[in-house]
Amino acid sequence: MRLPMDLQNTRFLDACRRRPVDRLPVWMMRQAGRYQRSYRAVRGEVAFLELCRSPELIAKVTCAPIDEFGFDAAILFSDILVHLPAMGLQLSFEKGEKGKGDGGPKIANPVRTRADVDALRVPSPERDLPYVLDGVRAINAGLAGRVPLIGFVGGPFTVASYAVEGGSQGFTRLKTMLYADPAGAHALFEKLTQAAIVQIEAQIAAGCHAAQIFESWLGELDREDLEAFAFPYLARIAEAVRKAGVPSIFFGTGLSGHLERIAQLGYDVVSVDWRIPIDEARRRAPGVAVQGNLDSTVMLSTAEASVRKALAICKAAGPAPGYIFNLGHGIQVGTPEENVKAVVDAVHAFRWK
Ligand code: CP3
Repeated sequence: MRLPMDLQNTRFLDACRRRPVDRLPVWMMRQAGRYQRSYRAVRGEVAFLELCRSPELIAKVTCAPIDEFGFDAAILFSDILVHLPAMGLQLSFEKGEKGKGDGGPKIANPVRTRADVDALRVPSPERDLPYVLDGVRAINAGLAGRVPLIGFVGGPFTVASYAVEGGSQGFTRLKTMLYADPAGAHALFEKLTQAAIVQIEAQIAAGCHAAQIFESWLGELDREDLEAFAFPYLARIAEAVRKAGVPSIFFGTGLSGHLERIAQLGYDVVSVDWRIPIDEARRRAPGVAVQGNLDSTVMLSTAEASVRKALAICKAAGPAPGYIFNLGHGIQVGTPEENVKAVVDAVHAFRWK
């Protein structure tokens, strides 16, 4: 494993550990994506899953936003669903409608019965996903220690929502399963938790310096169901990352009502969306670092509006160590690149005085 000592820029990792930093670290979810000219050029040549399966292209698109915008961390280019074929699910990504941006995931044989759950195989990353691990090594070669690399996996509920619904079609079938067949739902979450743990361990062993868990749709559940069907599994993933020795970040949306509880799951950093003021998030989660929380929609407007909103967040976050600037959710297709650059530069220029 590449040690953080080899890194020239440690401000992201320092903030994860709630250590003082020279400037606020900034990175953005989906910082490699269709809003970038350079990414669209790559996607003009290869389909999305083909891109995810090429270590060389993974390295190219992961490093591009570091070169172009000066982010303080890179995030592995991949997807939270790439392991589903190895688990037995037929995954494809549909082409986006013209002018409408990205296409969505489709699963031809979604998980509907207990037998479907039992048939799922926990993948072996080295055997089934070698291109991800080769991608991690190729990225670190390309970054040459300029910034740390964040690995990631999907949270069990969010991955299950695609596995069960068969695409981006809501949550009704999965939520119905929780009540109609709780044992089946637990068996599904157990397999997806094991799959998440082996993948994140392999990414860290290959050279990732931090790990983010994307649980984008967990805000769908109430507290009772979070406690029963989500938090125990998420705590196990946090523990696996802790044992692997790198900082862990929990990402979710629509979960502000549960922030105190989420801060106790064992993650070093909790990422929050714009539905909670950042100062309130920091007050309510004193034991962890906080990441967030600009509404990415703002960056579809002007550089001035984006910078104004970004600086208001930096100011509200306060001087205490343990804050990482990010968005509440990923950068959107159609975001002007100059707005992204303006926000990165403004966050770096910000001083809490
Ligand atoms: O953040 C990053 O830059 C790292 C790469 C990354 C992607 N997907 C690339 C991607 C990460 C961390 C993800 C996670 C992911 N994938 C999530 C959780 C985060 C979130 O946004 O809520 C989810 C729910 C998925 C599943 C997924 N992948 C969907 C629903 C879609 C299509 C619609 C969309 O949101 O873009 C994808 C495709 C996808 N994953 C693209 C990218 C850059 C667009 C593909 C393209 O080039 O056309």
